[in-house]
Amino acid sequence: MNESLWIFGYGSIIWKTGFDYDESRLAYLPDRARRFWQASTDHRGTIASPGRVVTLIDQPGENCWGMAFKVPSASVELTLSNLDVREVGGYERESVTIHFPDKDPVRGLTYTAHPANPNYLGPASAVDIASQIASSEGPSGSNNEYVFELALALDNLQVEDPHIQDIAGLLKERTDTENAP
Ligand code: BEZ
Repeated sequence: MNESLWIFGYGSIIWKTGFDYDESRLAYLPDRARRFWQASTDHRGTIASPGRVVTLIDQPGENCWGMAFKVPSASVELTLSNLDVREVGGYERESVTIHFPDKDPVRGLTYTAHPANPNYLGPASAVDIASQIASSEGPSGSNNEYVFELALALDNLQVEDPHIQDIAGLLKERTDTENAP
């Protein structure tokens, strides 16, 4: 590869980037939204007890806010092969146009788990999603931690995402209740 590459992160890539980049920017994908609709059997859950992690859905009129990272040309090949492994389990590379609040859009890529993949769970109520997450843990840690890290990262970026906030709020209530004297 002899060109740099923009990668859009909307999940763990925001707070656990794990690759070299020259520049990072607050960014969004128009007409898309982040949802806990993908099962995780390898990171935040197991095959016997899958967790839930985020994917991107089409949502006309909404913006999915995240972070875009500009990977230098020398690191593109290694970064993509590492991400392909890290995001195995239903995610595929998707070419996207990445938008910024105050700069021209750029072409780049993101990882999306489409409905046809075997780990796709689809919609459920916030309460059901939170219960599944509360009881899931995998090699990368608890599913709760994933949600709290994502909610904190979005908060730090001053991004409001009601779906994430609802689920993080329900999980916080559950952990507060469990830890109450
Ligand atoms: C992300 O942070 O963009 C991401 C993380 C895991 C899977 C897909 C996307």
